[in-house]
Amino acid sequence: MIKVAILTLSDKGAKGERKDMSGPTLERMIKKIDAKVVSYDILPDEKKLIKKKLLSLCNKVELILTTGGTGLSPRDVTPDATREVIKREIPGITEAMRYRGLKKTPFAMLSRAVAGVRGKTLIINLPGSPAAVKENLSVILNCLPHAIEKIQGSQKECARHLKAEGRKMKMEYIK
Ligand code: MTE
Repeated sequence: MIKVAILTLSDKGAKGERKDMSGPTLERMIKKIDAKVVSYDILPDEKKLIKKKLLSLCNKVELILTTGGTGLSPRDVTPDATREVIKREIPGITEAMRYRGLKKTPFAMLSRAVAGVRGKTLIINLPGSPAAVKENLSVILNCLPHAIEKIQGSQKECARHLKAEGRKMKMEYIK
């Protein structure tokens, strides 16, 4: 079972002025792989606070999914905080999300989302709207169990191992 932390970044959400719809969307979707949410927080768009929270979650959960604060407004600082925490970036994850997103909306290019690893924890930024969360996460969901296995240090040989487990590794998107 993959332990997941969800972190919603929103000034209004943190003040209770806006109901968080994206965190629950993430939680519903992540259950489709063998994962469970063990931590859920809403923080304002403050780089220091986000960084502190990310650092406190690293090596306690295998996956941190953030939502919000990836755009271009001055208060959008999630990718900046994430970059200061990760040790290795995984550009392919965010490339795939933007590539797929652009087929839906040109605004997909405005997400500055970052994905990367610190220790044994994979951190992935997702945009803030529930629709964008759904679109972005559906692109990468199938790949996450294998990515996490590798980050945890699995020595199994990728192709043979996945075939043996009968996993579908086609570009198939989970809705
Ligand atoms: N990606 C997809 N697939 N679908 C979307 O609707 N919204 C975009 C973009 N990525 C969107 C998307 C918009 S409008 C913005 S401003 C950026 O994500 C950043 O969103 P955020 O600031 O809420 O994190």
